[in-house]
Amino acid sequence: MSDILERLRAETREAHEAIERDLAWETRVATLDGYRALLARFRGFHAVLEPALAGMLDDEAFFGPRRRLGYLDADLRHLGLDAAEIRALPRPDAVLPRSRPEAFGALYVLEGSTLGGQVIAKHIGRQLGLTAETGCRYYAAHGRETGAMWKAFRHRLADEAESGDADALVAFAARTFDAMRHWLCAAPVPFLDGEGRGPVAKVLQRG
Ligand code: HEM
Repeated sequence: MSDILERLRAETREAHEAIERDLAWETRVATLDGYRALLARFRGFHAVLEPALAGMLDDEAFFGPRRRLGYLDADLRHLGLDAAEIRALPRPDAVLPRSRPEAFGALYVLEGSTLGGQVIAKHIGRQLGLTAETGCRYYAAHGRETGAMWKAFRHRLADEAESGDADALVAFAARTFDAMRHWLCAAPVPFLDGEGRGPVAKVLQRG
């Protein structure tokens, strides 16, 4: 294992444990409403972070296959939201990367989440009967390519840490984990009222 990966694992272990614990993902994906609300939160986070990462990395061949905003949009469309509702979903006031090492720190968090995401995608398949084609594209993510994508990412990460500021990279990974946890866990469900009804529920009833 490269030094940088070892450092990232060690220095973000607590943050990973915190997000795993606080996300309460099994509870949230137990119902279609809860799952849709969770995807809506992820959508806001990716909508803010992905354009910043694309600009900072300036390497579409590498970053393009790692974009997942389009997957979130496809899933949310499948779950009943129209394009205007998706665009109007709330976004966090997140701190954005200001350098390449910081961008790699943030991308470590997003790419790493595709590993645990495989477990979650299988669970969602069993629980809600959704597949990558029917509302679970975001979690399915790289699918069979997950191992290969992670390996390729690790190589780039090691190169980046050697030539750049590894301290900034690790610090920004920790910061991204925390920002994500706050955004996914602390904020209320955006589009359902207290009784689980709202514009989205109505859209679904129509369909
Ligand atoms: C949005 C929330 C999450 C984020 C941002 C996240 C992030 C990460 C990161 C960065 C890694 C890479 C660790 C490394 O090898 O350096 C990772 C790995 C992993 N995560 Fe998560 N994670 C999240 C939620 C979860 C949840 C809820 C689970 C439980 C199902 C989970 C299970 C795993 C597993 C099984 C691995 C692979 C460990 C390995 O193969 O070494 N993660 N995650």
